[in-house]
Amino acid sequence: MPKPAILVARAVFPEVIDKLAQHFEVEHNQADEAWSREQLLAKLQGKAGAFTTGGERIDADLVRACPQLKIVANMAVGFNNFDLPAMTSAKVLGTNTPDVLTETTADFGFALLMATARRVTESEHYLRAGKWTKWSFDMFAGSDVHGATLGILGMGRIGQGIARRGAHGFGMRVVYHNRSRLDAATEAACGASYVSKEELLRQADHLVLVLPYSAASHHAIGAAELAQMKPTATLVNIARGGIVDDAALAQALRERRIAAAGLDVFEGEPKVHPDLLTVPNVVLTPHIASATVPTRKAMAHLAADNLIGFLVHGKPLTPLNPEVLA
Ligand code: GLV
Repeated sequence: MPKPAILVARAVFPEVIDKLAQHFEVEHNQADEAWSREQLLAKLQGKAGAFTTGGERIDADLVRACPQLKIVANMAVGFNNFDLPAMTSAKVLGTNTPDVLTETTADFGFALLMATARRVTESEHYLRAGKWTKWSFDMFAGSDVHGATLGILGMGRIGQGIARRGAHGFGMRVVYHNRSRLDAATEAACGASYVSKEELLRQADHLVLVLPYSAASHHAIGAAELAQMKPTATLVNIARGGIVDDAALAQALRERRIAAAGLDVFEGEPKVHPDLLTVPNVVLTPHIASATVPTRKAMAHLAADNLIGFLVHGKPLTPLNPEVLA
């Protein structure tokens, strides 16, 4: 029997290509060329599976144009690049990479929170620019993290990891808001209390966003929400671009209506709103929250194992629309 054909849309660890090649005819993109939508569609012709990284839009038009496609395995926990109902109607399975990145991503959420509250990058830029000529009593004075109130919007696995770090590591009071309230045992393990979104915005000294992107969460933090936050507050977004209205945030930062922000994700990334590049009180990182070598390897292997599990053994590991399997 000929091996099924698959497409790996972006460069990935060579060991993962080797693993896939044991089971599939693999067309890859180890040169990491930027393919247009038309090129992606052309390359997907005749492919039973695709390995994507979150930047490739898998929608009704694409599944219609690629009738042999059976599975798209995202190397990401987020899957807002998938139109899941359209994939389900076309009987295309979608998979993501949950769990393997939870703790690494929660670590990064905390790193960005610390860097933002304690003005780490702003002060480093000052030093590198040769501006540090004397110490002064209020130089880069920021806000405390320990003992402060940590707000978390979106309390899935990563949100819970951040809550545990805040409550148990930094003695923070943790409040959260989520579509559904956690059970009492999970709340106790996270040291977190449920509040309304309005209370969350009002109470948080540091607000971390960890909710999935959807039409419902588009601009969940815009000018009106920023206006409800404390002027001393910091905002951290490790969720998805589009959850924050970046233009409104840049204006709030410029006018010091909140103290600072830490952003790992952006509307229209890799483009960054130009106003964010010119305000000093923001820490900007290029969507790296899950980027440690062991975690990125675990994500890539899980995506590959979903392709092998489904196309070779009929059993994907982390299906998003298991109704396709019925
Ligand atoms: C990264 O943003 C992911 O969704 O895994």
